[in-house]
Amino acid sequence: MIFSHITGTGSYLPKKVLTNLEIAEMVDTSDEWIRDRSGIRERRIADEKEAASDLALTASREALKSAGLKPADLDLLIVGTVTPDMPLPSTACFLQGKLGAKNAAAFDINAACSGFIYALSVADAYIRAKTFKRILVVGAEILSRITDWTDRSTCVLLGDGAGAMILEAGRSKHGIISTKINADGSKWDLLYVPAGGSKNPATEKTVDKRMHFLKMRGNETFKIAVRTLEKMVVEMLEENGIKPADLSLLIPHQANRRIISATAKRLGIGMDRVMLNLDRYGNTSAASIPIALDEAVRTGRINKGDYVLLEAFGGGITWASALIRW
Ligand code: ACO
Repeated sequence: MIFSHITGTGSYLPKKVLTNLEIAEMVDTSDEWIRDRSGIRERRIADEKEAASDLALTASREALKSAGLKPADLDLLIVGTVTPDMPLPSTACFLQGKLGAKNAAAFDINAACSGFIYALSVADAYIRAKTFKRILVVGAEILSRITDWTDRSTCVLLGDGAGAMILEAGRSKHGIISTKINADGSKWDLLYVPAGGSKNPATEKTVDKRMHFLKMRGNETFKIAVRTLEKMVVEMLEENGIKPADLSLLIPHQANRRIISATAKRLGIGMDRVMLNLDRYGNTSAASIPIALDEAVRTGRINKGDYVLLEAFGGGITWASALIRW
């Protein structure tokens, strides 16, 4: 059997920090409210000259370096994003060109905050099917460009960043053990950007009505996320014969500290076994899991043989998980 081995990781966070106090000068909110309700203290904001592919480029170069590979070694490049550089072509094509990954096919995946695990599951299937041997999987977002900075219910939550991972085909049983992806399109209106697509093309009216910004029914999303994630993580472990006690680290999508601790509690694992960085970066959608994973690797929180569980919930709605043996 062939397995997808993780041979490199990388991440990039823009330099500019936006604190809760600074947001409290823009909308009617407070540092205390944001920290209590979400766990976020600050987030990073991309420079106006940067596009999603630029963030992805730095993260990808770091991942390639840690894997000891050159761009030309890659067969495929997949980018999870809801904030592409342009509607056409894909951000993956921009990244492929900037990297000089001349032998790689390239495409984007839009599954909102679940985008990275969706991309990982596609990459894993290609490797297991022996279609490709070396794949770069990226989550890259500039959510600040689709954030309504007059809407206090969403602008306090979002941030920018990118994370990357290299998968390579190998014979020993480690790396990606199992992935699961799910969706329920009947709940699309929990989290969406109304205009800019074929349904509501960009016009002066759509701009005036602020329809190019992200809308979210936060409280409803919160409740569905908690219920769905709890069920998914339990099923993922059971199906693979893994007990929560065997899990070294849970790396959740960084949306809300309360959602994350509810999932950890359901699994019966302490927060010391949960990777958290949303206090510093906020919700970076598809980028949050690869950023957190890279940080866990670089700070020595993951060791050879460890079981690591990734889980995410996002717009669509979508939800996904991946079990990894390091
Ligand atoms: N500052 C102060 N008050 C606020 C703010 C704010 N920034 N935002 C909302 N409030 C107020 C509301 O107006 C409301 O006031 P009211 O009771 O007078 O009407 C009150 O706070 C409570 O609002 P809720 O929305 O019920 O607050 P909740 O406890 O649910 O927290 C939050 C809101 C943080 C958005 C939470 O619901 C959440 O995290 N939701 C899930 C987010 C998520 O997981 N999204 C999916 C992934 S994101 C993606 O795919 C890009």
